[in-house]
Amino acid sequence: MTEEPIKNYNNIPGDPSHFVRGNLPKIKKAGGLHAYLDDLHARRGNLVRLRLGPFVKAVSSTSPAVISQLNKSANFDKRPPLIRASRSWLGEGNIAELSGRESRLTRAQLTPMLGKDSQRLACNVGVTVLERILPRLIDKSINLVEACRELALSTMGECCFGADFRSGLGADIGQHFMHVLRTNPIKPGPPFPPFWQPKYWHWRKDVRTLHKKVDELIQKRKLTGAEKYTDPSGDLLGLLLSARDENGELFFSESEARMAVLAFYFGGVEATSSSILWCAAYLGAQPDLMKKIQSELDTVLQGRAPTYDTLWQLPFMHSVIIETLRISAPSPVNMRLIQEDVLIDGYRVPKGTVFFLSIIAMHHNPELWPEPFVFKPERFINSDAEKYPRHAFMPFGVGAKGCIGGRFAITEISLALAGLLQRCSFSWPDTPELHGEFHSGALVPKSAHKLIVTTR
Ligand code: HEM
Repeated sequence: MTEEPIKNYNNIPGDPSHFVRGNLPKIKKAGGLHAYLDDLHARRGNLVRLRLGPFVKAVSSTSPAVISQLNKSANFDKRPPLIRASRSWLGEGNIAELSGRESRLTRAQLTPMLGKDSQRLACNVGVTVLERILPRLIDKSINLVEACRELALSTMGECCFGADFRSGLGADIGQHFMHVLRTNPIKPGPPFPPFWQPKYWHWRKDVRTLHKKVDELIQKRKLTGAEKYTDPSGDLLGLLLSARDENGELFFSESEARMAVLAFYFGGVEATSSSILWCAAYLGAQPDLMKKIQSELDTVLQGRAPTYDTLWQLPFMHSVIIETLRISAPSPVNMRLIQEDVLIDGYRVPKGTVFFLSIIAMHHNPELWPEPFVFKPERFINSDAEKYPRHAFMPFGVGAKGCIGGRFAITEISLALAGLLQRCSFSWPDTPELHGEFHSGALVPKSAHKLIVTTR
């Protein structure tokens, strides 16, 4: 048997690129990296290459076998500088920037903090916040987009900062946080921030103000004694301030605790509220599916508010959430740095190349997902889910840098959807509009503000 010769990077299928700007103009024209990669894979197959500017080479694969191969190597745990730029507002040395041992140790501390106790807290807080929001949603003084944002912001705010979130300083943090997120001028794609734009420097100033506010809150906590927060059902900032290493020393410095609490806040707000909106957008387009969830809710909850325990007794609603995360993955593209030359599908990919984890393109690969653009929750009901290969479905990324808040997110989304659908129904004024745009770090349904909310 003759062995296939190894081909080089330049032979990987891809679009022609400009010698200075690479494929950046095409990315912009397509409406963002997620849209360009989705289209590039559809046109050119499972392995594609692209260039970001004159120097940055990149590849992307929609083959689960390739993701498994890379994930098994010890070198798949570092993000490239361009993603570090886009998350820089979390603070230098934040979790997204860490790799190797440092990342493993930090994740080992952070992951259990998002376990059952915190999810229970999120449910208890979420129910109270919903009670505040629902009357305003029903009398139309706010729309669904505003309601979902407020729900995620307030629920996560209290999970992160506890009772302090309701005081002046906590509420201030919430407002500054949202402002920094909404005005972030750094776009995914270009390998550097737009330092030539004055608005970039204004934004950096706002980021410093946000950090100062969180630092003030940490000082306030320290004065009252961090050990007060060792209760496992306490808020996340308290857990961070009292975490200890194996020698009994405090694990996080004050700035590290600030970065971690902001990472939790970011994770729990943007991608989560966009997921709730996507669910509403698909259900508004398919009222039969919405009625099926409502009847499941009526049978299981019997008019009572959802709780952490009852949320797991709603299999149909769960399948709708999972199908939503497949078809409109809120975090559609993530990145890794190839740290050693590697052979992918017979091509030598050089060290320093950016590997795009094209989550949304993987979820739209017709070889894995028949009729990929049709919303079909039954794909995930019972044993059906097992027929898809590992990594064909990866809304929370993979491996050593995968999301640490996946379970927490599903709890947050389930609680919101259950609470909303118990009392309301969603519909589109005319034709459903299910297009997405990348906004503040997540893929959001562009026209969700048009969704009509009616009481049941
Ligand atoms: C629907 C909601 C969410 C989605 C779709 C989502 C998705 C993701 C994805 C795709 C990544 C990158 C994974 C990779 O590179 O392999 C990530 C990272 C991360 N997520 Fe989430 N996430 C969600 C909610 C949350 C929540 C609720 C939290 C915390 C409360 C959270 C905390 C984090 C953190 C800290 C990281 C960085 C991990 C690291 O760099 O080691 N996420 N998330």
